[in-house]
Amino acid sequence: MARINENFQKLKAGYLFPEIARRVNAYTEAEPEKAKRLIRCGIGDVTEPVPVAAREAMKKAVDELGERGSFRGYGPEQGYPFLREAIAENAYGDLDIHPDDIFVSDGSKCDSGNILDIFGPGNKIAVTDPVYPVYVDTNVMAGNTGEANDAGEYEGLVYLKCTPENGFVPAIPEEKVDLIYLCYPNNPTGTSATREQLEAWVAYAKKCDAILFYDAAYEAFIQDPSVPRSIYEIEGAKDCAIEFRSFSKNGGFTGVRCAFTVIPDTVVGTTASGESVPLKQLWGRRHSTKFNGASYPVQRGAEAIYSEAGKAEVAELVKHYMGNAKLLKKACEALNLKVWGGENAPYVWVGCPEGVDSWGMFQKMLEEAQVVVTPGAGFGAAGEGFFRISAFNSRENVEEVCERLKALI
Ligand SMILES: Cc1ncc(COP(=O)(O)O)c(C=O)c1O
Repeated sequence: MARINENFQKLKAGYLFPEIARRVNAYTEAEPEKAKRLIRCGIGDVTEPVPVAAREAMKKAVDELGERGSFRGYGPEQGYPFLREAIAENAYGDLDIHPDDIFVSDGSKCDSGNILDIFGPGNKIAVTDPVYPVYVDTNVMAGNTGEANDAGEYEGLVYLKCTPENGFVPAIPEEKVDLIYLCYPNNPTGTSATREQLEAWVAYAKKCDAILFYDAAYEAFIQDPSVPRSIYEIEGAKDCAIEFRSFSKNGGFTGVRCAFTVIPDTVVGTTASGESVPLKQLWGRRHSTKFNGASYPVQRGAEAIYSEAGKAEVAELVKHYMGNAKLLKKACEALNLKVWGGENAPYVWVGCPEGVDSWGMFQKMLEEAQVVVTPGAGFGAAGEGFFRISAFNSRENVEEVCERLKALI
């Protein structure tokens, strides 16, 4: 018999969203009439159409594939130069990120999980709590943890608590860690990190020779000009940070699939014998071995996100979702609930009413309002007592959710 990777046996109750889907399905079966009015504000999936500029570019690229003269087969694994150049120029401007530092992929979910391939065993790994579950589960699968305790915390991981008191940006740990996952603007709390907070993290990483994994999937939603959009805006970050970005949320590409990882030359790891190795070299090797590149039409679509027309359409999408966030935030505040986020990110993080826990609140919203939210506890022990409402929705649905909220509590 083939032996399995038993680390998978350590995973708790499946990934959060399948569990939500299971509960929603159970409700739909039990209450088919009421379930007809379900509004989903759970998973952070976009609802608005892909920008015209990107669609036109993708259609043109598909037509090119239909002509012998312009046909393209396998492209460069790292991504076409036209896209990497557009990213370097438009996403990083004068931050001195080179097209060569950029690795195009089919998603940040895969990138943030796959990155573990280039790290050896024995690293001390820190995650925030609450956290985007992919960071934790991929470490479990990779064998970087022990078993989970009753609170769902895995032995061997360092959990950096994010609370209202620290504004959901964790304090610098006392101990030395090797790999740290930071996601700002944050999923799930919808909060953002200030320049000073990121400076402290970069200083810590440099002091400990640690690597920061900086997930900036929600960068486009930043409204406050003082909030950094990239970790590379922080001096010294090019020596210690890997950044993940995605076209999923700014360009509505959740179904199209395109993202990228940035690793400057100066980010290094070490061998057991103490030799420094550039991580970009290892990631390039990994990428070209296990990945054959995002599709040509998709990369043309992503390039078009940076055209003048594309930028204008993205700005409209961001305005739409952030308008939703504002309405949701206001509706929750009107109920005297405590609310965070929603100002520089499309998520609103809400404290549960007295005496209701986060899965209790999920169930209450489902059964009494037919609104699907995400229970905070699904993002980690410190998420207990909170729930997340996603602003990715039509305005009509958001207005209806606000109305239903009024009647709920
Ligand atoms: C923090 C964070 N990173 C990455 C992703 C996934 O992005 P992609 O669609 O590029 O895989 C998500 C999706 O919700 C996310 O919330």
